[in-house]
Amino acid sequence: MVKIEGICKEVIDKTEWVAIATCGDSGPHIVATWGGYVKALGFNDSGIIIIPAGYYHITEENLKKTNRVELLIATRQVNGTNGHPGQGCSISGRGEIQTSGKFADLAKSKFSWARGALVITVEKVSTQL
Ligand SMILES: Cc1cc2nc3c(=O)[nH]c(=O)nc-3n(C[C@H](O)[C@H](O)[C@H](O)COP(=O)(O)O)c2cc1C
Repeated sequence: MVKIEGICKEVIDKTEWVAIATCGDSGPHIVATWGGYVKALGFNDSGIIIIPAGYYHITEENLKKTNRVELLIATRQVNGTNGHPGQGCSISGRGEIQTSGKFADLAKSKFSWARGALVITVEKVSTQL
Protein backbone atom coordinates (compact mmCIF):
# COMPACT_ATOMS: atom_id res chain seq x y z
CA MET A 1 0.00 0.00 0.00
CA VAL A 2 1.41 3.39 -1.04
CA LYS A 3 0.23 6.70 0.47
CA ILE A 4 -0.77 9.62 -1.73
CA GLU A 5 1.52 12.43 -0.60
CA GLY A 6 3.75 15.23 -1.87
CA ILE A 7 3.19 16.42 -5.45
CA CYS A 8 0.60 13.75 -6.12
CA LYS A 9 -1.47 14.88 -3.13
CA GLU A 10 -1.37 18.45 -4.50
CA VAL A 11 -2.47 17.21 -7.92
CA ILE A 12 -5.32 15.10 -6.59
CA ASP A 13 -6.45 18.05 -4.43
CA LYS A 14 -6.76 20.17 -7.58
CA THR A 15 -7.66 17.76 -10.36
CA GLU A 16 -11.09 18.42 -11.82
CA TRP A 17 -11.70 14.80 -12.70
CA VAL A 18 -10.07 11.40 -12.55
CA ALA A 19 -9.76 8.84 -15.37
CA ILE A 20 -10.15 5.22 -14.23
CA ALA A 21 -8.92 2.44 -16.55
CA THR A 22 -9.51 -1.29 -16.23
CA CYS A 23 -8.81 -4.28 -18.52
CA GLY A 24 -11.67 -6.17 -20.13
CA ASP A 25 -11.93 -9.13 -22.50
CA SER A 26 -12.40 -6.71 -25.38
CA GLY A 27 -9.57 -4.38 -24.34
CA PRO A 28 -9.10 -1.32 -22.13
CA HIS A 29 -12.15 0.29 -20.53
CA ILE A 30 -12.16 3.84 -19.19
CA VAL A 31 -14.57 5.66 -16.87
CA ALA A 32 -14.26 8.71 -14.64
CA THR A 33 -15.08 10.39 -11.37
CA TRP A 34 -14.87 13.98 -10.16
CA GLY A 35 -11.81 15.00 -8.14
CA GLY A 36 -14.11 16.52 -5.52
CA TYR A 37 -15.76 13.13 -4.94
CA VAL A 38 -12.41 11.49 -4.19
CA LYS A 39 -11.53 14.32 -1.79
CA ALA A 40 -14.94 14.08 -0.10
CA LEU A 41 -14.30 10.42 0.74
CA GLY A 42 -10.77 11.07 2.06
CA PHE A 43 -7.87 9.69 0.05
CA ASN A 44 -4.86 10.86 2.03
CA ASP A 45 -5.08 9.04 5.37
CA SER A 46 -4.05 5.71 3.91
CA GLY A 47 -3.11 4.08 0.65
CA ILE A 48 -6.75 3.57 -0.20
CA ILE A 49 -8.83 5.65 -2.61
CA ILE A 50 -12.62 5.46 -2.31
CA ILE A 51 -14.85 6.48 -5.21
CA PRO A 52 -18.67 6.53 -5.13
CA ALA A 53 -20.07 3.89 -7.49
CA GLY A 54 -23.40 4.72 -9.07
CA TYR A 55 -22.85 2.75 -12.24
CA TYR A 56 -19.39 1.25 -13.03
CA HIS A 57 -21.03 -2.07 -14.03
CA ILE A 58 -18.55 -2.94 -16.78
CA THR A 59 -15.74 -1.74 -14.53
CA GLU A 60 -17.04 -4.08 -11.83
CA GLU A 61 -17.06 -7.08 -14.17
CA ASN A 62 -13.55 -6.24 -15.39
CA LEU A 63 -12.21 -5.98 -11.84
CA LYS A 64 -13.67 -9.37 -10.92
CA LYS A 65 -11.52 -10.93 -13.65
CA THR A 66 -8.41 -8.72 -13.35
CA ASN A 67 -8.28 -6.42 -10.35
CA ARG A 68 -5.62 -4.10 -11.81
CA VAL A 69 -6.72 -0.48 -12.16
CA GLU A 70 -4.95 2.70 -13.24
CA LEU A 71 -6.01 6.29 -12.55
CA LEU A 72 -4.83 9.45 -14.26
CA ILE A 73 -5.18 12.89 -12.68
CA ALA A 74 -3.86 16.27 -13.81
CA THR A 75 -4.02 20.00 -13.15
CA ARG A 76 -2.42 23.15 -14.54
CA GLN A 77 -2.40 24.55 -10.98
CA VAL A 78 0.67 22.51 -10.01
CA ASN A 79 3.97 22.99 -11.82
CA GLY A 80 5.73 20.15 -13.60
CA THR A 81 9.38 19.30 -12.94
CA ASN A 82 10.30 21.66 -15.81
CA GLY A 83 8.75 24.55 -13.83
CA HIS A 84 5.89 25.06 -16.29
CA PRO A 85 2.27 24.99 -15.14
CA GLY A 86 0.85 21.49 -15.34
CA GLN A 87 1.43 18.23 -13.56
CA GLY A 88 -0.23 14.85 -13.84
CA CYS A 89 0.08 11.62 -11.91
CA SER A 90 -0.73 8.06 -12.74
CA ILE A 91 -1.82 5.93 -9.83
CA SER A 92 -1.95 2.18 -10.20
CA GLY A 93 -3.24 -0.47 -7.85
CA ARG A 94 -5.88 -3.10 -7.24
CA GLY A 95 -9.58 -2.32 -7.18
CA GLU A 96 -12.96 -3.79 -6.41
CA ILE A 97 -16.55 -2.59 -6.20
CA GLN A 98 -17.87 -3.02 -2.66
CA THR A 99 -21.64 -2.73 -2.12
CA SER A 100 -21.50 -3.38 1.64
CA GLY A 101 -19.04 -2.68 4.44
CA LYS A 102 -17.51 0.51 5.81
CA PHE A 103 -16.33 2.00 2.50
CA ALA A 104 -19.66 1.35 0.76
CA ASP A 105 -21.51 2.83 3.76
CA LEU A 106 -19.29 5.93 3.66
CA ALA A 107 -19.94 6.43 -0.08
CA LYS A 108 -23.69 5.93 0.35
CA SER A 109 -23.79 8.35 3.31
CA LYS A 110 -22.19 11.15 1.25
CA PHE A 111 -23.76 10.36 -2.14
CA SER A 112 -27.39 9.26 -1.99
CA TRP A 113 -27.18 7.86 -5.53
CA ALA A 114 -24.23 5.54 -4.79
CA ARG A 115 -24.80 1.78 -4.79
CA GLY A 116 -21.40 1.27 -3.18
CA ALA A 117 -17.77 2.23 -3.54
CA LEU A 118 -14.95 1.55 -5.93
CA VAL A 119 -12.14 0.83 -3.47
CA ILE A 120 -8.58 1.08 -4.77
CA THR A 121 -5.49 -0.07 -2.90
CA VAL A 122 -2.68 2.08 -4.29
CA GLU A 123 0.52 0.27 -5.27
CA LYS A 124 2.40 2.83 -7.36
CA VAL A 125 2.28 6.59 -7.97
CA SER A 126 4.30 8.42 -10.61
CA THR A 127 4.36 11.93 -12.07
CA GLN A 128 4.11 12.45 -15.83
CA LEU A 129 5.38 16.00 -16.41
C1 LIG B 1 -16.39 13.53 -15.14
C2 LIG B 1 -17.19 12.29 -14.88
C3 LIG B 1 -17.43 11.91 -13.57
C4 LIG B 1 -18.14 10.74 -13.30
N1 LIG B 1 -18.31 10.35 -11.98
C5 LIG B 1 -18.86 9.14 -11.71
C6 LIG B 1 -18.90 8.66 -10.37
O1 LIG B 1 -18.40 9.28 -9.43
N2 LIG B 1 -19.51 7.45 -10.16
C7 LIG B 1 -20.03 6.70 -11.17
O2 LIG B 1 -20.55 5.60 -10.88
N3 LIG B 1 -19.99 7.12 -12.47
C8 LIG B 1 -19.40 8.30 -12.75
N4 LIG B 1 -19.31 8.74 -14.06
C9 LIG B 1 -19.84 7.86 -15.13
C10 LIG B 1 -18.79 6.79 -15.45
O3 LIG B 1 -17.63 7.36 -16.07
C11 LIG B 1 -19.30 5.67 -16.38
O4 LIG B 1 -19.75 6.21 -17.59
C12 LIG B 1 -20.45 4.88 -15.80
O5 LIG B 1 -20.22 4.67 -14.43
C13 LIG B 1 -20.58 3.52 -16.52
O6 LIG B 1 -19.52 2.66 -16.10
P1 LIG B 1 -19.22 1.25 -16.78
O7 LIG B 1 -18.88 1.52 -18.24
O8 LIG B 1 -18.06 0.66 -16.02
O9 LIG B 1 -20.47 0.42 -16.63
C14 LIG B 1 -18.63 9.93 -14.36
C15 LIG B 1 -18.38 10.33 -15.68
C16 LIG B 1 -17.68 11.49 -15.94
C17 LIG B 1 -17.41 11.87 -17.37
